[in-house]
Amino acid sequence: MEHVSVLVNEVLTHLGPVPGGIYVDATVGHGGHALSILKHEPDVGQLICIDQDSDAIERATAALAAFGNKVTFFNQSFTLLKDILSQAGVNAIDGIVFDLGVSTGQLKDPSRGFSIYLEGPLDMRMNAGAALHAKNLIEELDTNELANTIYRYGEERFSRRIAARIKARQADINTTADLAQTVFEAIPARFHPRRIHPATKTFQALRIAVNDELQALESGLQAAFEALRSGGRMCVISFHSLEDRIVKTMFKQWSGECVCPRDLPVCSCGCRPQVRIITRKVVRAGGEELNANARARSAKLRVAEKI
Ligand SMILES: C[S@@+](CC[C@H](N)C(=O)[O-])C[C@H]1O[C@@H](n2cnc3c(N)ncnc32)[C@H](O)[C@@H]1O
Repeated sequence: MEHVSVLVNEVLTHLGPVPGGIYVDATVGHGGHALSILKHEPDVGQLICIDQDSDAIERATAALAAFGNKVTFFNQSFTLLKDILSQAGVNAIDGIVFDLGVSTGQLKDPSRGFSIYLEGPLDMRMNAGAALHAKNLIEELDTNELANTIYRYGEERFSRRIAARIKARQADINTTADLAQTVFEAIPARFHPRRIHPATKTFQALRIAVNDELQALESGLQAAFEALRSGGRMCVISFHSLEDRIVKTMFKQWSGECVCPRDLPVCSCGCRPQVRIITRKVVRAGGEELNANARARSAKLRVAEKI
């Protein structure tokens, strides 16, 4: 199950790893970005690799074995970056990469319950030890809460119909196939999207909720900002507008651009520049990469440098 990493050259160019530098791959996955950093600059001081999925840590450990104790692994959430760095004996870092979302290994493993197309248990946890999975999320939320979740995290216009149908059948919805079929039936046929499965947005919403992904992203970015030394860079690859909005807003806040409402006559937010935004325009994959890797189509890279 090969995972093709996205925007690898663009990340390397912007991260600019130097000999002796300390770097973090906050979402090591299959180890693709980590490997590219180590190949590009074999003399980095340390590469700290994080993933909340133990399968990912196992895979990345094997992929990066040749680099010995230069690389350390932490099977934790990147929200715990501060603790992880103190466990690693590191005070400040020179750069960090976030490559958000799920990996091919996660998506293509039916037992993880991420895929609309592969039948498996209704799970969707990136951290298989976490208490909440998609089946109990559906059971715990009432119809209104479920509709709000599907609307907010999936931007799904039929969220109310979908939530009502799911709740009416929840005892019989045990697999990804049951859920996909239920959503398929809840959306009127004439509104079925042509290019994607009608349940795509609902699956995205439940996955985000199960893994608390947006809250985690905000905490992870804040922790990364605090850990970066002056001149250190943060590279963030996002895959949907909800993630990208968070990255863009936090970068803007740190860059000192005023975030007061437009109709406020005098600035009251007191923002002062703490980062320089390196990517004024978001970086997207080029034609060759787009042809080779479908995941690259929605990938957006933003980079900021600590002042
Ligand atoms: C797109 S994959 C990364 C692929 C990797 N860059 C590569 O090239 O092989 C995203 C990874 O981030 C992990 N992840 C997502 N949220 C996380 C979090 N809060 N903390 C740690 N890892 C997380 C997922 O488990 C998944 O393995």
